Amino acid sequence: QVDRAIRPQSLAEYIGQPVVKEQMDIFIQAARQRGEPLDHSLIFGPPGLGKTTLANIIANEMGAEIKTTSGPVLERAGDLAALLTNLEEGDVLFIDEIHRLSPAIEEVLYPAMEDYQIDIMIGEGPAARSIKIEIPPFTLVGATTRAGLLTSPLRDRFGIVQRLEFYDVQSLTTIVKRSASKLGIDLDDSGCFEVARRSRGTPRIANRLLRRVRDVAQVSGESVVGQIVAQRALDMLSVDNQGFDHLDRRMLLTMIEKFDGRPVGLDSIAAAVGEDKDTIEDVIEPFLIQQGFVIRTPRGRQVTKRAYEHFDYQLPKDFD
Ligand code: ADE
Repeated sequence: QVDRAIRPQSLAEYIGQPVVKEQMDIFIQAARQRGEPLDHSLIFGPPGLGKTTLANIIANEMGAEIKTTSGPVLERAGDLAALLTNLEEGDVLFIDEIHRLSPAIEEVLYPAMEDYQIDIMIGEGPAARSIKIEIPPFTLVGATTRAGLLTSPLRDRFGIVQRLEFYDVQSLTTIVKRSASKLGIDLDDSGCFEVARRSRGTPRIANRLLRRVRDVAQVSGESVVGQIVAQRALDMLSVDNQGFDHLDRRMLLTMIEKFDGRPVGLDSIAAAVGEDKDTIEDVIEPFLIQQGFVIRTPRGRQVTKRAYEHFDYQLPKDFD
């Protein structure tokens, strides 16, 4: 797969997230010196910021194998038990979307995380009994969009909790430059900057836009891609100069046009925009909030002056 070619394999190659990098480097070195598995680690943050990439890097840096699964694919307690009992000492078990584990499966995870043991129920009714199975010491790496989605007993069992932030334009420019070079795309500095600036602070989006910019350049016969070609491609993709896509604009315009810029509850926004609440909370609004276009108030979400300015709209008279 093409994505694998551009994914960083080590912490040294991982760009941005300086706090996470510095801490993980120390925790990994310390665990290695002690010859122990790394503590269970929870990584949270909006989609596309590199949670899976970081999980793979953790395994690499620990010199361990990684087994990957996700919350929704684990249907029965036995599915997780099978994975856990197949681990080798020191392995990383990566569970993406860990907030979507069913309660019964979470129950299996607790003793596994705390005591490297699982309790399996066999049989039903009065004849049912539980047997304990030892599993090798391992590291659970969990990923989720918001830490608040986890039950507190699960969250409390992670010794390391890292939050990934949106990338600044400078880090993203470096990421785009690196990806362009790995993919053999001749994108000059101003072109890298243009892609980075319009990528919603998100490497996954930057890498996707980079490929589309390449398509446009290739078909129009440009060999070196600069800012003008990048701009043309991004305009065609309806990515505006703030990096907002059609969903971002729909949410902002709904809040301005239908709700006149007043505070409004998530349910009302979701209904008016026609997206589900989770998509708004996990995917759309975090970037709008981080960029200062939306704020959360006790009475609901509210657009800011910047949102009006972005669309060249007059502020309502009573806007505060
Ligand atoms: N590709 C995706 N995320 C990255 C990161 N943080 N550093 C380098 N390349 C990346």
